[in-house]
Amino acid sequence: MGGLYGVLTLWTFQTYQAVISLRRNNALFYPHMNTAITLLIELLILFFVLALLVWAVSEIFAIYHAAPFVASGKQITEKMLDLGGVSNGKKILELGSGDGEVCIQAAERGASAIGIELNPVLVLFARFRARRRGVGKHCVFIRGNFWKQTFPADTDVVLFYLLPQILTKLWKKLERELRPGTIIISHAFKFPDREPEARDGKVLRYRL
Ligand SMILES: C[S@@+](CC[C@H](N)C(=O)[O-])C[C@H]1O[C@@H](n2cnc3c(N)ncnc32)[C@H](O)[C@@H]1O
Repeated sequence: MGGLYGVLTLWTFQTYQAVISLRRNNALFYPHMNTAITLLIELLILFFVLALLVWAVSEIFAIYHAAPFVASGKQITEKMLDLGGVSNGKKILELGSGDGEVCIQAAERGASAIGIELNPVLVLFARFRARRRGVGKHCVFIRGNFWKQTFPADTDVVLFYLLPQILTKLWKKLERELRPGTIIISHAFKFPDREPEARDGKVLRYRL
């Protein structure tokens, strides 16, 4: 994944350099194109390069801290919310909220959702998607590292799709900061030495 972003970034950067050099030599492919449009294209390329760079750096941090971005997908998300009993009035917390789908679907069920996400590009994307789906007011996406955040003590359901090697440390943090009885939903990975109280395929439910 990281390699792909690297190649894409390099490719975009080289394209950008080529445009600059063609421009300097007055040999732009479209001589009739006015300067404003050329400038706009260059700005767009620059924006794209910057977004890719931020993305690539964030992914490296994410892999180091808990997991890279891989979306659970709509069907698994539905299972996670069903197994967590997410419904009207519930307060949910998602650790590593990615593209925001889990929080957005929770909000569409009437819950209020908080998502914490390392990658700023994904946070902007998630906020945009939540607004477009009409639940912007019920989803809060925080740009940050969940290890450094204190979780809201009144959370009813915590959901995540994170790598197994961090789960022992995560259980201790959840126990320290949340109420007994809080529901914990993990996509794909089990807490070591702990049996889930229920499961639906790859989705597991635990309770503090
Ligand atoms: C496997 S993806 C899951 C995305 C989303 N939860 C879903 O189920 O579709 C894991 C996400 O966690 C984020 N992440 C990893 N470590 C994190 C940390 N310490 N704090 C906040 N987000 C983190 C990554 O950037 C990535 O978007």
